[in-house]
Formats: sequence, structure tokens, C-alpha cells
Amino acid sequence: MAKDKAIFTCSECGGTSPRWLGKCPSCGAWNTLVESVAEGGNSASRNRMSASSYAGLAQAQAVTPLAAIEAQDVARSPSGIEELDRVLGGGMVEGGVVLIGGDPGIGKSTLLLQALDALHRTGMPTLYVTGEESGAQVALRSRRLGLDHSQVNVLAEIQLEKILATMEATQPAVVVIDSIQTVYSDQLTSAPGSVAQVRECAAHLTRAAKSTGISVILVGHVTKEGALAGPRVLEHMVDTVLYFEGDTHSSFRLVRAIKNRFGAVNEIGVFAMTERGLKGVTNPSAIFLSQHSEPVPGSCVLVTLEGTRPMLVEIQALVDSAGPAPRRLSVGLDRDRLAMLLAVLHRHAGVASADQDVFVNAVGGVRISEPAADLAVMLSITSSLRGKALPKGFIAFGEVGLAGEVRPAPRGQERLKEAAKLGFSVAVVPKANAPKKPIEGLEIHAVERVEEAMSIVRG
Ligand code: TYD
Ligand code: MG
Repeated sequence: MAKDKAIFTCSECGGTSPRWLGKCPSCGAWNTLVESVAEGGNSASRNRMSASSYAGLAQAQAVTPLAAIEAQDVARSPSGIEELDRVLGGGMVEGGVVLIGGDPGIGKSTLLLQALDALHRTGMPTLYVTGEESGAQVALRSRRLGLDHSQVNVLAEIQLEKILATMEATQPAVVVIDSIQTVYSDQLTSAPGSVAQVRECAAHLTRAAKSTGISVILVGHVTKEGALAGPRVLEHMVDTVLYFEGDTHSSFRLVRAIKNRFGAVNEIGVFAMTERGLKGVTNPSAIFLSQHSEPVPGSCVLVTLEGTRPMLVEIQALVDSAGPAPRRLSVGLDRDRLAMLLAVLHRHAGVASADQDVFVNAVGGVRISEPAADLAVMLSITSSLRGKALPKGFIAFGEVGLAGEVRPAPRGQERLKEAAKLGFSVAVVPKANAPKKPIEGLEIHAVERVEEAMSIVRG
């Protein structure tokens, strides 16, 4: 087969060049040009079209008012793995494409094999395409998972054209490609795993999914920086992007939806890795707490809202005298936000840490992005600096503004009820989140200003 003409596309701006160049001629970014296949039709004829009227070149199409279009809800096929269905927004969608990323060894292959087997048991034909392991290795894993009589079809193949032909011939309802980085197309000369290959193969698979109604799940590797390897366009191409999170040293894993055309984003699924694979944790609110027998300085429990569920996460801080260049480090929390909170603490609550190292950690490898974590972060820092523990059974949440005001968090009542259910007894919350009726067993301190909140740990 004759090879299509190659062009080089900038992964930043989408500009093209007929040759590879170190610097993109359109936006000036370095090392961003990657090889791709030129679309059919030459640019001269396209230019001619845009210069003249379109009326003679194509038939005008009928348009429809929005209200006249019948809105159908997409049909979903639940896998029966409840925590996975939750992040997917109810289950697999016909023709939907899901990208799932995460560190090596976190459990992507394990979860997807379990999901395919569960889907197969609901009567949906499935295909597992493995480019990283042999069929025998996949079989070995399935036995470890207790899927002894699994009817999931396995294809050990990395060439895109062969994968697409097999999909067409076997007509599965759901296909897993593990991983997209191993797949390569004959049409491109660049090496498997290169940005051009990954993007081109993902585009072909997405097109195949849309035209055949097959649901496709792509496994993607994550770079050291935590982004999915390959161009960002991979995230734009697919319908749903899921990320695996968690500390490989702990057994808990979170699967988070960061984009979902068919459901809510920031919904999470919680799993525990056992010797027989991933098991869903349906009540995860207390898994990110470390057990202290007595309260210790520098620890504050935050009630955070992950998707639809409140979860309690311990925030730990260590503030210690520093050398000439004090360090600010955070794990699981945004570092820029930490710098801002330290400035607010100094300016509005008189808590000075300019000559101190400040380390902040969210326990259990969970990533917290909501600003409602502010109050708990500030309380743990103040508590560590003053060497004074917060009261026993203490929780906090609330966003803090630059003027030192404490702003309400969404769905405060639910957070408080969850904390009370788990036996917490003292809460510092934004004034607007104070419950109208007392919550049994929970003493509430409603605050408007950050200095009021910090007075709880007055040294
Ligand atoms: P894997 O699913 O292959 O991760 P990925 O595809 O994301 O690279 O591996 C998950 C890890 O979990 C691996 O280190 C072995 C471990 N594991 C278990 O603890 N229990 C099990 O039942 C299985 C299959 C794996
Ligand atoms: Mg794997």
C-alpha cells in the first residue's frame, strides 16, 4: 500500500510544516513538531474553495431548531463493578471512548480485566487487546483474579490495522487497548510510542468506535510529571478521561473522572487492592485517616467532598526552623495555594512562618483540589508551629480568601453529618455552613474570619 504523505504538526498550536523543524514556524515552540498523515485533498484546491462562493460546490444542508431535536439519553451498560460504573456515570456507553491513565503497577490492567469479565457475564462480547503482556501472562493474571472460566477474548497484537480488522470481524461490544502507547500504525514511519503514533492510532480507534458503536477503553501511561504521555489532544479526542490515583504503598486506589461527556466530572471510585484483584470500597469516608490514639500537633481532619460523597482526610503539617532558604512542600495539595495560605496566615492571623520550612501532606496519597481544604491546611500548620494539638475528634472545612474571610463550602450539611456519623465531635466551619438545627454529638464553631479559626490553637 502506498504511504500517505507525511506532514509535521505542532502539538502546541496545531500548525503544520512539510519538514521536521526544531522550532514551530507558527507559534515558535521548540521540539513540538510531530509526524502525522496528511488529510486527503491538496491545499491549493482547498484555498480555491474558500476564495469563491460555496454555493456551487456543495449542497446546502437542512438545519433544525434545537427544541425540535429529540433528546435521547445515551444507553449505558453497567459493568456491575459499582465503583467503576459510578465514575463512568452509570456504565459503558455505546461508541464511547474512555482513556484511563495511571502510574505503572497501580492496577489499570487488573481493573480492566475484571471489568471486561463482568461485562462478558452480562452478555456483552468483549475483547482485550494486550500489547504489553503475552496472552499467557494475561491468562495467569485472570487465574489469580479467580476468573477461571472467563470467556473474554484476548488478542496479543500491537499493529493498529490488525486490531481494527479483528474488531470488525469479531464485533465485540467493548474493547480494551492495553496500552495505546504500544500500538503502532503502518501508515507512519515514526516509532511506536511516539507522539505521532499515539495520536494517530487513538484517532483511528475513536473513529472506529463512533462508526461501529463499539465501546473502546484506551489505557495510557503517565509521565513523571503526572500527565498522560502523548499530546494533550488525546484527552480532547476521547469522551471520558479517568485517572488512577493512590499511593502504591497503601492498598487504596482512587479512580477519578477528570472529563466525562456522559456523566459528572470529579466523581471518584474507590478500590482496595487485594490478593484477588481490586475490590470496590462502597463506604470510603474514613480510609484516609491515620489512627492517632491521642491528638498530635500538626494534624487536622478535613471533610472533603469527592464527587457526590463526603470523605474525611487527615491533613498533616510540619513546620520547622529553616536555613537561609525556607522550603514549602506539599503532597496531594497545590503548592501555590499553600504559599497563598501562608501569606494570609501571616497577614490576618499573625502566624509568621517566613523563617520556617513548611511541609504539608494529605494522608494516603489522595489529591485534594477543592479550596474548602484551606481551613484544615491552615489549622494544621498553626497547630504544628505552636506545638499544640487540635481538640480530640476535631474536623474542619472552609475556603479562605485573600482578605482573611472564611467562605462557605458546597454541601456543608452533608459533610457535617458524615463527620458526626464517624464519631467526630468538634467542628470549625464557615458561618454560612452552620446548621440551622443542631447535629447530635457535634459541637459547631462557626467562623467568619481566619483569625477566629486560628484562635482555637492559641499557644
Ligand atoms: P497491574 O494491574 O498490572 O498495573 P498496571 O496495568 O496499572 O501497570 O498491576 C497491579 C499491581 O497489583 C501489581 O504490582 C500486582 C498487584 N496485584 C495484586 O496485588 N493483586 C492481584 O490480584 C493482582 C492481579 C495484582
Ligand atoms: Mg498494565
